[in-house]
Amino acid sequence: MKLLISILGKATGYLTLVVVLIAAVLHYLDYSEPGALPSMAVNMESLEEDFRQQNKSCFILGATGETGRLLLKELLDRNLFAKITLIGRREVTFEDKAYEKLIQEVVDFEKLEDHAPAFQGHDVGYCCLGTTKAKSGAEGFVRVDHDYVLKSAELAKAGGCSQFHLESSKGADKGSSFLYLKVKGQVEAEIEALGFDRLSIYRPAVLLVERQESRPGEWMARKVLSSCSFMFPSMSVPIQAVTRAMVSNTVLKPEHPTEILENKAIQTLGASPTK
Ligand SMILES: NC(=O)c1ccc[n+]([C@@H]2O[C@H](COP(=O)([O-])OP(=O)(O)OC[C@H]3O[C@@H](n4cnc5c(N)ncnc54)[C@H](OP(=O)(O)O)[C@@H]3O)[C@@H](O)[C@H]2O)c1
Repeated sequence: MKLLISILGKATGYLTLVVVLIAAVLHYLDYSEPGALPSMAVNMESLEEDFRQQNKSCFILGATGETGRLLLKELLDRNLFAKITLIGRREVTFEDKAYEKLIQEVVDFEKLEDHAPAFQGHDVGYCCLGTTKAKSGAEGFVRVDHDYVLKSAELAKAGGCSQFHLESSKGADKGSSFLYLKVKGQVEAEIEALGFDRLSIYRPAVLLVERQESRPGEWMARKVLSSCSFMFPSMSVPIQAVTRAMVSNTVLKPEHPTEILENKAIQTLGASPTK
């Protein structure tokens, strides 16, 4: 019995050591992540006021999804734009008065060319469009996350949009052998080649969100990651941090026309006070 207790004690000790080592490595990797870390010394309030005065307009793709819905709320709360257009495959009903001035363009994503006017005259575009292989199959996933996203960006650019903010994913890499990461990397590169005055790419890790739609695998990952997010900060991010980062970043001046905000930069910018 004593032997068993001693073995169990040792095993627990080793396990703890392994977990701590993994956490330390991930923590190190997290802090060595490349990506813009905007200076926090800026006065966000005055930058936002300057931006507001310019009466700009924007559109959101994917405003019915988890990120898009919250991004819309953040934009309305901070009142940065004179006009906000939602471009999606279905019209949405909002109860709140704050939403009454929104413009909604319902488009057929299979015939986006026919909807070019919906993409005209916006200064800024936000893209939170996406599906999963589990939901739409591999072909459907590529169709949405690559074809629809790229075509929308092309139409927006042709319609005069100068800033494009793309929600991509941690690990996006056009050379990856994983379809998800490869498609995300490809679409990033192809949108960069369109030559927007400014392209901001956000690469969040697993989004911590109480998702309306049931996704059991993601639910499980979220439960595990949210309970130990302090140990593995590079593996997840609260969805509110993503949308706050996207909105705050809009008024900041990037150093280069294309910037990539990795998970750490999103957490930093998304945690900053905005008012
Ligand atoms: N989930 C994560 O942990 C995670 C992590 C990193 C990056 N990302 C990326 O972040 C982005 C946003 O993720 P999310 O979880 O916020 O998305 P989401 O909740 O699944 O919402 C996706 C949006 O895309 C639209 N959409 C999906 N399929 C469509 C189709 N066939 N035609 C037209 N519109 C379609 C949805 O419209 P409907 O409402 O009409 O369906 C919705 O507005 C995605 O690109 C995702 O890959 C996600």
